[in-house]
Amino acid sequence: MKELSKRTANFTDSVIRRMTRISLQHGAINLSQGFPDFDPPKEITDRLSEVAKEGPHQYALTWGAQNFREALAAKQEHFSGMKINPDTEIVVTCGSTEAMMAAMMSVCNPGEKVVIFSPFYENYGADTILSGAEPIYVPLKPPAFHFDADELEAAMKQEGVKALILCNPSNPCGKVFTRQELMVIADLAKKYDIYVITDEVYEHILYEPNKHTYMASLPGMRERTIMCNSLSKTYSITGWRLGYVIASPEIIDRVKKVHDFLTVGAAAPLMEACVVGLKFGDEYYRELKAHYTHMKNLFVGGLRDIGLQFTEPQGAYYVLVDISEFGYENDYLFCEDLARKVGVGAVPGSSFFRENVNHLIRVHFAKQDETLNAALDRLADIRRKMK
Ligand SMILES: Cc1ncc(COP(=O)(O)O)c(C=O)c1O
Repeated sequence: MKELSKRTANFTDSVIRRMTRISLQHGAINLSQGFPDFDPPKEITDRLSEVAKEGPHQYALTWGAQNFREALAAKQEHFSGMKINPDTEIVVTCGSTEAMMAAMMSVCNPGEKVVIFSPFYENYGADTILSGAEPIYVPLKPPAFHFDADELEAAMKQEGVKALILCNPSNPCGKVFTRQELMVIADLAKKYDIYVITDEVYEHILYEPNKHTYMASLPGMRERTIMCNSLSKTYSITGWRLGYVIASPEIIDRVKKVHDFLTVGAAAPLMEACVVGLKFGDEYYRELKAHYTHMKNLFVGGLRDIGLQFTEPQGAYYVLVDISEFGYENDYLFCEDLARKVGVGAVPGSSFFRENVNHLIRVHFAKQDETLNAALDRLADIRRKMK
């Protein structure tokens, strides 16, 4: 038999999804893969029941149903302050996962380079390789996860750099980039003529006093920013696979074609059911933020009581817990033991870092109080079971 593709030969399966399988195997409370165990808004699921009878059940327009794009443009205009044309500046995709892949394939040629901050969401490395490009990494330094502007410039000015990926708010470290930090990145992007591909799936999950700044809204950045985003986290519907790209008409024209050949389109009935959600008023987003603030406070308060060291997030819903005190050299083995002996599923931090970091694990708190309390009860025993 001939060898399979060289490009994908070094892919491992996703560590995050693997930890979900290990959690299931050991009956652990799964705080690894980031998805909520509470229901989406009732208005959306009620509308889905109606749509099941009324349709649509056939292909929507390949770049997304008209009413969905119009509602989405209005919602994103409201929050970002940018004018967005629903016909020429949006493509609806199968999750932000496809949005990122389509953006990368629209921008990169084989052999070009893409700058990625480390720690990073694990799909970015694979997306870069699938689009034929080579990732180069710039560290965000723990515990505050600041970047060094000189180090960033040294990476961005390398020959062949085409794009930078910016995850803001960031998974896994919970960093929310300040306007000043974004201005530094934007100035370098303009100076070296680089596209910025943003991943803003946690735009509404922020903790006071942090505020989300849209990279595309900064001076001179609209035409070189490709925003990848999603309904997964904002409406608690990670299984519906609805995402989108917003960019200039020139870029979107290309993304439309890539997306058409990748997936044809997102699910028509699910787009229809979500229109009502895209039209929610400000109150919905205030409640979402208050709910996440409650979950964060409950969870980090519990970790503090147990005496664990961790980074408190500014946004998104992840905590990096420092496991140095347990003396494991391998964070993957630690997570396997944690699932088996303590009954809590977590992700080894090394899967997010380019640097040699193996003293952190990632847990998430997008869970109901009873799930978080049960996980904290189990974690209260961690020293007895893991040392
Ligand atoms: C930073 C980030 N981007 C993208 C995704 C995936 O988004 P979607 O469900 O829209 O594909 C996730 C999921 O956890 C994420 O954390």
